[in-house]
Amino acid sequence: MNETTHKAAVVAVVGATGAVGVELLRCLEQRKFPLAELRLFASARSAGKSLTFRGERLALRELREDSFEGVTLALFSAGAATSRRFAPLAVQAGATVIDNSSAFRMDPAVPLVVPEINPESLRGHRGIIANPNCCAIISITPLWPVHRRNRIVRLQLATYQAASGAGAAAMEELRESTRAYLEGRAHAPRVLPHPYAFNLFSHNTRIDPLTGYNDEETKVIHETRKIFGDSAIRVSATCVRVPVLRAHSVAVNFECERPIAPQEVRDLLRAAPGVELVDDAERNYFPMPMDASGRDAILVGRIRSDLSDPSGRSISLFVAGDQLLKGAALNAVQIAEVLRAQE
Ligand code: A2P
Repeated sequence: MNETTHKAAVVAVVGATGAVGVELLRCLEQRKFPLAELRLFASARSAGKSLTFRGERLALRELREDSFEGVTLALFSAGAATSRRFAPLAVQAGATVIDNSSAFRMDPAVPLVVPEINPESLRGHRGIIANPNCCAIISITPLWPVHRRNRIVRLQLATYQAASGAGAAAMEELRESTRAYLEGRAHAPRVLPHPYAFNLFSHNTRIDPLTGYNDEETKVIHETRKIFGDSAIRVSATCVRVPVLRAHSVAVNFECERPIAPQEVRDLLRAAPGVELVDDAERNYFPMPMDASGRDAILVGRIRSDLSDPSGRSISLFVAGDQLLKGAALNAVQIAEVLRAQE
């Protein structure tokens, strides 16, 4: 591990003006992350602007090759291309990088970490640590205690993904297109490929012609296996963008090795870190993105036996989690906290 990472951390946030970047600042502030200095980077477009951290205005700097001198911890959330180019430079300069993009996630030398699941994989990292795909984090964090008790052999996911996963501009497109729709004005989408207000559509990533799965679905499948450390788990996903601002929801179905009762799952999840049970059948009150927004915990409910599996080994449930927090910024800051603790 990098020796200098934790003493008096000099922290860089790359992509500080973005939807995740702003939340990274909030998490560092709210969780009182110990740091000696915070440096904020974005593109040349943001140079001259500033953001507030712990009551102080901090200037944004244009990200450049020499930006990492003296930096001990760099939190990247500026897209895969920026990470590919600049993360190795940050490591060369002596920093540990926690990268929110997909650039390094499937590199066998790079730990892919959800602190509630596999913190031990951080040991021996070589400078870059990957923060997983938001849907993967939100879907599988609640499943880990089940998997440990009664191995999940097959997992099927149908996602309801918020605008925030496509960045601040997509969130603005949702607001603007909704306003236009309600006022009867035409609105041409600029960020996402289809009309967003009062609509939903298959995730806006490339489709692999060989499998028919889009890139988001492929990430969730591969990342689940890597984070669980279980290359045999069978996973399928259908990823859909819905007109919600910042919390993803997922309909989850899984099959265990042995029979499992809904009450057992409920009991396991009641004690699970990072998870909150919202499973009130009497009031028909279950996880909703509106309730999950701004919350650290992933909400889980609708826990029931899958009636289509007479063996009693399959469960269906529904989760909702803040894409910008546990799905991105919070998970990254939690990784930084585990690194400090492991020092
Ligand atoms: P900027 O605001 O200057 O464009 P989001 O995911 O919400 O779209 O945010 C993306 C973040 O990545 C923003 O902070 C954006 O900065 C930053 N970014 C985009 N391209 C670059 C780049 N080439 N170098 C540094 N930061 C970048």
